[in-house]
Amino acid sequence: MADNDSLAEGDRFSPSVPPHAEPYQLKGASGLDWGMQSRLARVFRPADGRTVMLAIDHGYFQGPTSGLERVDLSIVPLLRYADALMTTRGMVRSTIPSGSGTPIVLRASGGPSVLKELSDEQIAVSMEDAIRINACAVAVQVFIGGEFETQSVRNMTRLVDEGQRYGVPVLAVTAVGKELTRDARYLRLATRICAELGAHVVKTYYCAQDFDTVTAACPVPIVMAGGKKLPELDALTMAYRAVEEGAAGVDMGRNIFQSDDPVAMIRAVGAVVHDSLKPQEAYDRFLRRAP
Ligand code: R5P
Repeated sequence: MADNDSLAEGDRFSPSVPPHAEPYQLKGASGLDWGMQSRLARVFRPADGRTVMLAIDHGYFQGPTSGLERVDLSIVPLLRYADALMTTRGMVRSTIPSGSGTPIVLRASGGPSVLKELSDEQIAVSMEDAIRINACAVAVQVFIGGEFETQSVRNMTRLVDEGQRYGVPVLAVTAVGKELTRDARYLRLATRICAELGAHVVKTYYCAQDFDTVTAACPVPIVMAGGKKLPELDALTMAYRAVEEGAAGVDMGRNIFQSDDPVAMIRAVGAVVHDSLKPQEAYDRFLRRAP
């Protein structure tokens, strides 16, 4: 005899209680399929819709850049403080502990090294392999205004088609060539093109003037790229302004792993992004090596 036979049937069905369905809140993502939302929810904390992504994918075109000579020693200890890790499949399989639990945003484009024309990229990972790795998103470089602009856009749209099929979000990285100006006008153009053509998340640089127009014009979340190493207070200030002006977090590399104290720095960035800590307070924490 079933345990709950003594309950009135109506009690078990709670007919007077309306169905509870929590809508998915991330910008531009409410219409996505469940699997896609679930992966995004691992990268962007559902509590605040923000992320601190740690970018260590530089080796795919630069080789062992400063701070990434030994990823096992320099990066693995940082994983617990990152909401997601942006890296390559080679580094995932060789060096990142599968038990770390840190969601992977998998670099999926590549080809040319720093010795060649960087915009001449191809898709470098199949969606099947991204899923095998259990990636929560794939990342592709898009070179708006670059020599191989159309090819890089095509790389992105092919990944978007595949990602839609399997529920894997695509992060478009807007690469800004040396000849281009990182101003709001250019960043609006590049980020909007990526979003219009299907990217689920866009990574772009911060600009001091009108960055809020860049985030406002982009219908999907923007994560701020870190760029070259700055003094820690400057990097924290840039991250603070970016999220205040509408970014859904950061995807920073060198400003974290090239810091004198990468653990203190990623914690300080986390406090800025998730707790809206003011830059000076976050910097004081960094100096004190405080959590
Ligand atoms: C290429 O442009 C990549 O996205 C970078 O390798 C990386 O993600 C950049 O990170 P950061 O500029 O913060 O060092």
